[in-house]
Amino acid sequence: MRVAVTGGAGYIGSTLVRSLLDEGASVVSIDNLTKGDYRYLRALDHPDLELVEGDIRDRELLEGSFEGADAVAHLAAMPGLVLCRERPEEAISVNIYGTHQVLEAARRLDIERVVFCSSAAVYGTPVEIPVDEEHPLRPLNLYGVTKLAGEKLMECYHMNHGMETVSLRFGNVFGVGLYTHWETVIPKFVRQGLGGEPLTIYGDGESSRDFVHVEDIVQAIKLALKTEGIGGEAFNVGGETVKIGRLAEIVSEEIEKASGRGASAVHLPPRPGETKRFSYRLDKIEKTLGYRPGWSVRKGVRQLIAYRLRQMKGEG
Ligand SMILES: NC(=O)c1ccc[n+]([C@@H]2O[C@H](COP(=O)([O-])OP(=O)(O)OC[C@H]3O[C@@H](n4cnc5c(N)ncnc54)[C@H](O)[C@@H]3O)[C@@H](O)[C@H]2O)c1
Repeated sequence: MRVAVTGGAGYIGSTLVRSLLDEGASVVSIDNLTKGDYRYLRALDHPDLELVEGDIRDRELLEGSFEGADAVAHLAAMPGLVLCRERPEEAISVNIYGTHQVLEAARRLDIERVVFCSSAAVYGTPVEIPVDEEHPLRPLNLYGVTKLAGEKLMECYHMNHGMETVSLRFGNVFGVGLYTHWETVIPKFVRQGLGGEPLTIYGDGESSRDFVHVEDIVQAIKLALKTEGIGGEAFNVGGETVKIGRLAEIVSEEIEKASGRGASAVHLPPRPGETKRFSYRLDKIEKTLGYRPGWSVRKGVRQLIAYRLRQMKGEG
């Protein structure tokens, strides 16, 4: 199988590419390197990997790169509510127009399966918990709006062209993949705690989120790429629901086990555009795709601590 991956230099994308190569697939990645870095994939030095530097809004480049692919995994995006709020025009251009270009290039090349990386941000404030795929879609911020627009484009290509599109609504992704970012809440807590700083909690700590390990995300994307008989659908992809205050305790406990000293926490004002309680129902993806998350938050925190300690010793 040959898979075209957009955003292959990114955190999730590079972890996906490694896993696809491990399974014997050949992969072409398209990334403009605004955020990602190919050095981790280059280090694999794999004969079945092609690394293209380019923008998903450049359709000619996409068509050239997608040639011969059986499926597309579309991950390239301006991710996160903060970046989208700061650079709204680019967010709309990359996340919506760019997604259209990916679909159009796939259609022209008769590539049937396109998997789109969406987000829990499409739901907005839950009216019912746990949230299933039938829940109303009322995003609270531009990031969620662009992801919902991307999903609608996917549906459109399914209805109008019979393309097998699959949208995956990720929870908060964490854990060590081919590498890790340090900005999202779990890795940030680990970095702060091991650096001797207090863990910064926005709000009262009662907000909950679904946390899903990057290896489980990769499992879901691969199932969405390969499972037969699906198309025009969206799936929640989650792991474990934890309140932020409890998460700070777990990180502190695990840091204490690893280094002998726990971490304190400070509370900052809540951030605008964020919902308070969130948790996922995963029945649909478990039944339809056979997805089973394999990582608890605590196990992932331990992995991050070990990885950070190796980095601090200059071994990472
Ligand atoms: N990490 C999470 O918690 C999370 C949660 C929900 C959804 N997602 C979605 O998963 C996908 C991957 O996220 P990630 O965490 O790996 O982000 P990331 O920023 O690490 O990866 C995105 C990649 O896209 C590339 N890119 C950006 N604009 C581009 C463009 N115009 N053309 C080509 N490449 C471009 C970046 O250089 C980067 O390598 C994104 O679509 C994101 O919205 C992530």
